[in-house]
Amino acid sequence: MKRIAVLTSGGDAPGMNAAIRAVVRTGLDRGCEVFGVRNGYAGLISGLMDSLSARDVGGILQRGGTMLGSARSHEFETEAGRRTAIRHLRERDVEALVVIGGNGSQTGAHHLFQMGFPVVGVASTIDNDLYGSDITIGVDTALNIALEAIDRLKTTASSHQRAFLVEVMGRDCGYLALMAGLAGGAEAVVIPELETDPDAVAKELRTAYERGKPHALIVVAEGAKYNAEAMATHFRDHREALGFDLRVTTLGHVQRGGAPGAFDRILATRLGAGATEALARGEHGVLVGLIKGEVVTTPLCEIVGKKKPVDLHLLELSRVLAK
Ligand code: F6P
Repeated sequence: MKRIAVLTSGGDAPGMNAAIRAVVRTGLDRGCEVFGVRNGYAGLISGLMDSLSARDVGGILQRGGTMLGSARSHEFETEAGRRTAIRHLRERDVEALVVIGGNGSQTGAHHLFQMGFPVVGVASTIDNDLYGSDITIGVDTALNIALEAIDRLKTTASSHQRAFLVEVMGRDCGYLALMAGLAGGAEAVVIPELETDPDAVAKELRTAYERGKPHALIVVAEGAKYNAEAMATHFRDHREALGFDLRVTTLGHVQRGGAPGAFDRILATRLGAGATEALARGEHGVLVGLIKGEVVTTPLCEIVGKKKPVDLHLLELSRVLAK
């Protein structure tokens, strides 16, 4: 293999830069030229790619975001868009593409593979909803950011005997909400995977108030039917019944920004290196992920279109621990 390309796609995740660096430097070490594609699949369709040197990826290991840029491309969802993308790769004699991203990005990678272009995916999304990796790049950092915010909110909540509704990211998946709730000591956790009755949440708050708790915390995933806004609207007319005064904080994209922690730097480095190793072995159409602590590959056809489930036992555990 003489020429490979790498892109980052979909929502960015802390650690993507570490993965790019690992792909580029391990690729160069194997004697390959490595192209960096700008702005994900959108950039690929426009032919935006440059050859990267070891120096070009210097100083990015500790930086959040992605130096290559990312995008969600509707054009790439069409076969015509994907043909254009493949044409640009072939024009530069690129023999394989590394796609760093989550579910939508790996579905795109699978389409390219089905059209005959060699690809290898690297598991990266703060949502942790991707099959083929127990944990994905960015999750640990995003979770720690959410936890830091929760810990801070709990101190001000205690001072004022308030309840806080904290909304974390997760359009379709409650992993971040569940783990932030468990690690942050939430009174209730609301996730998209399980429909939650807002009146049952109100009851939890009331009970916590009557037990003399100085504050209460409800962590909700943005994709839950009753996200923070819907829950707050539901509570608006009977706030006294909650006991606590209520405030709402939506963490949003702050969870995706900033420097990756040690765990994500190491995970991204291992998975990025795993991608060039897979290519060197001649493996294509696979996702590189971490399973039981090992860097492994899983065929893309086995992971696309699926959503990794959350462990609902942990939801029950968080409820028991909220006593
Ligand atoms: O896929 C990661 C994610 O952060 C989701 O949790 C969130 O719903 C979505 O991306 C937000 O997307 P965007 O950055 O395009 O608004």
